[in-house]
Amino acid sequence: MGGVKDPRDLRSHQWYGTDGLRSFSHRARTRQLGYLPEEHLGKPVVAILNTWSDINPCHVHLRERAQAVKRGVWQAGGFPLEFPVSTLSETFQKPTPMLYRNLLALETEELLRSYPVDGAVLMGGCDKTTPALLMGAASVDLPAVFVPAGPMLPGHWRDKVLGSGTDMWKYWDERRAGLIGDRELAELENGLARSPGHCMTMGTASTLTAAAEALGVTVPGASSVPAVDSGHERMAAASGRLIVDLVGRDLTLSRVMTREAYEDAVTTVLALGGSTNAVIHLIAMAGRSGVRLTLDDFDRIARTVPVLADLRPGGRYLMEDFHFAGGLPAFLGQLTDLLHLDRPTVAHPTLRAQLAGAVVHDAEVIRPRERPLAAEGGVAVLRGNLCPDGAVIKHIAADPALLRHTGPAVVFDDYRAMQRTIDDPALGITADHVLVLRGAGPKGGPGMPEYGMLPIPDHLLKRGVRDMVRISDARMSGTSYGACVLHVAPESYVGGPLALVRTGDLITLDVAGRSLRLEVPDEELARRRAAWVAPAPRYGRGYGALYTEHITQADTGCDFEFLSREGAVPDPYAG
Ligand code: FES
Ligand code: MG
Repeated sequence: MGGVKDPRDLRSHQWYGTDGLRSFSHRARTRQLGYLPEEHLGKPVVAILNTWSDINPCHVHLRERAQAVKRGVWQAGGFPLEFPVSTLSETFQKPTPMLYRNLLALETEELLRSYPVDGAVLMGGCDKTTPALLMGAASVDLPAVFVPAGPMLPGHWRDKVLGSGTDMWKYWDERRAGLIGDRELAELENGLARSPGHCMTMGTASTLTAAAEALGVTVPGASSVPAVDSGHERMAAASGRLIVDLVGRDLTLSRVMTREAYEDAVTTVLALGGSTNAVIHLIAMAGRSGVRLTLDDFDRIARTVPVLADLRPGGRYLMEDFHFAGGLPAFLGQLTDLLHLDRPTVAHPTLRAQLAGAVVHDAEVIRPRERPLAAEGGVAVLRGNLCPDGAVIKHIAADPALLRHTGPAVVFDDYRAMQRTIDDPALGITADHVLVLRGAGPKGGPGMPEYGMLPIPDHLLKRGVRDMVRISDARMSGTSYGACVLHVAPESYVGGPLALVRTGDLITLDVAGRSLRLEVPDEELARRRAAWVAPAPRYGRGYGALYTEHITQADTGCDFEFLSREGAVPDPYAG
């Protein structure tokens, strides 16, 4: 452990240690909390930001787990204070927790800034909580350690192993195809998610917690420890001890979350075959770290990175398998030539030291370089006249036959209307059609709901069709799959070319050529653009209105422009 620094150099000293009325008041109020001065004065104050909530099944164990973090903080000579922060439950929060990612980021930033905090432990994992907590903490730039919630145990149904999310979509399609009865459905409800913890596929949660570990802001190996494993409690306590050490060494997030670290996080996400959502979140997180990460970085890195993790939804296994195969240290150990090994992490002076000795224990789950699942990273960035500022597709989770495809568009302006009509055979939809959904982008959704895996019409499902080309300005769940082109930018709501598509127009997707084209002459598109009328905003007031007015497009990470600006914010006690 590093030495505890001179208490007078702690940020919290300004609250507790000065010879003035305010410190007198703060000391009195800390006695009111039940602490004697000798228990806390001069110790680093560690804020534990906890996204626990009764409504969030992925974080339901974090209330108890915070006690282990506190244990570690006390052991190392710190003073832990737990702060409940907004939870973002991927399952329950509507229209989408993405609408609230920036709100949690804002809350995180302002709590850390306005209270006597020397370092922070960030407890999250369910999809947007990870980027939100790290975006906020990066903006304040204190020392911080991220404690991943950990994946839930593997799901089971009869003789089958289930992935939450992934198999929910799959069996719901089987249900719509008439193959699953009420009894089977009830059994599936029992088995899909059978313990606390985040989704245990390589969905958005596992992708982002792995990215956090790759960035270097967790205890090594933390991201795959199952939520209910005793090792998770040990990891939480170790994180508490570590943060006190980091405060002593002044190792702030900006010294860890560097351009090199973000490039390694991109490499990690791509090699895992991770969620498309990571593209948006990493760009936004990097922005808060003062690092300009772009879609072109993803495209460039994707061409050099093989997919080595055989994890659902793209592959076969689940996070517990990944954990016992060696977890992220063993995984990154396969990629050392593609990583920046000399950068620091919160736990080691260099990533090289962090990965030393890590061994792969199951070469089916974590493949060797000679036997990748795909030679190139799982996410491709597309360009073309339909997406001048880019779009993404997770091609490893799509039917390969659709990766080069031309078909006529069927356009939907509204998700609910699409849900009501998609199964109608009178629409004449065939497997060759391209389903287009618009009005679901950052401003139009607002919040880019996970509508991107548009349902396949049931009459096609019954004939065995399981994938079609689908295009939208929405996102899709990290546990989803299919030939879904997502994050089309600019979005239709602001008049991007997606707004101009009409049913019957031909669209060409060419993943190898990285292109997405609307086969309509430019003159005709210009005519349509001149006649286009901007849709009315959905929110007349409140947070939705604030969001719609300030959100940036998908290719720049969907941060609020006022949060991603450069410029200092004064510390409350400064000046
Ligand atoms: Fe929380 Fe999937 S619902 S991670
Ligand atoms: Mg999700």
